[in-house]
Amino acid sequence: MTTVLDVQRFKDEGRRFAMLTAYDYLSAQILDEAGIPILLVGDSLGMVMLGYPTTLPVTMDEMIHHAKAVSRGSRQALLVGDMPFMSYHASVEQAITSAGRFLQEGGMHAVKLEGGGRIVEITMRLTAMGIPVMGHLGLTPQFVHQMGGFKVQGKSESQAARILADAKELEQAGAFSLVLEGVPNAVATRVTRAVHIPTIGIGAGPGTDGQVLVLHDMLGMTSGKPPKFVKRYANLAQEIGKAAQQYAQEVGSGAFPGPEHSYSANGVAPVSKETQVKEPREEVKYGAG
Ligand code: KIV
Repeated sequence: MTTVLDVQRFKDEGRRFAMLTAYDYLSAQILDEAGIPILLVGDSLGMVMLGYPTTLPVTMDEMIHHAKAVSRGSRQALLVGDMPFMSYHASVEQAITSAGRFLQEGGMHAVKLEGGGRIVEITMRLTAMGIPVMGHLGLTPQFVHQMGGFKVQGKSESQAARILADAKELEQAGAFSLVLEGVPNAVATRVTRAVHIPTIGIGAGPGTDGQVLVLHDMLGMTSGKPPKFVKRYANLAQEIGKAAQQYAQEVGSGAFPGPEHSYSANGVAPVSKETQVKEPREEVKYGAG
């Protein structure tokens, strides 16, 4: 199983690594078997899976529901639970309770928190309790209203210096890795060189130690034009739409189900559509596994 020590080793050995989001049992199983070393149950699931306009409405209970499914599907990956908005903002005690739920109920191995500043103390307390913390700096979606939208951060020298200082403080506090989102390449490279812990970029160029993408973006399942930093490795929305249309068309024409998809009673071949009668119940297993 991948541990936080392995992730540090990736950086020490100069091995670039991938992280992907996972929100459910089946995709966790596929990604785990594909050898993706880190799976993030991101609060982006609020937008991707639940249809919220931002990540802000996602609750801790919703995150735990998805975390449980992901942990049931995964065997090898390091699982990181993304602390949702208002699950660590009220106090350090609230942060400890929420992070503890991710490990105890959700089956996660680590948590991720957005921001610098006061997150530093929370990071220190959580790591002291054996809860590994992944930091998240730059474009932090939970700050969408403060940032005035989803905007690239760190463009000015003062902003870049702030991000660098936050990264160093989080490292000092015990964070085992840092997500750098929506920052210029040069800023991400500078931070990556300045800290010993691995950085994981999204919209941060090639200079980070690892990369992360939202699974549904890279599979081409999300609608609309993807952000510039997304590479689509498949076009599943189109494939799913085509398959659904073909299925509906075959149901309409009677081409589905054919004899190969029908059960016969006591060796009697399936009857034609006109005379087909309901067969006695057989045990039917859903899903191929
Ligand atoms: O919620 C999420 O998916 C994330 C990644 C984009 C890093 O935070």
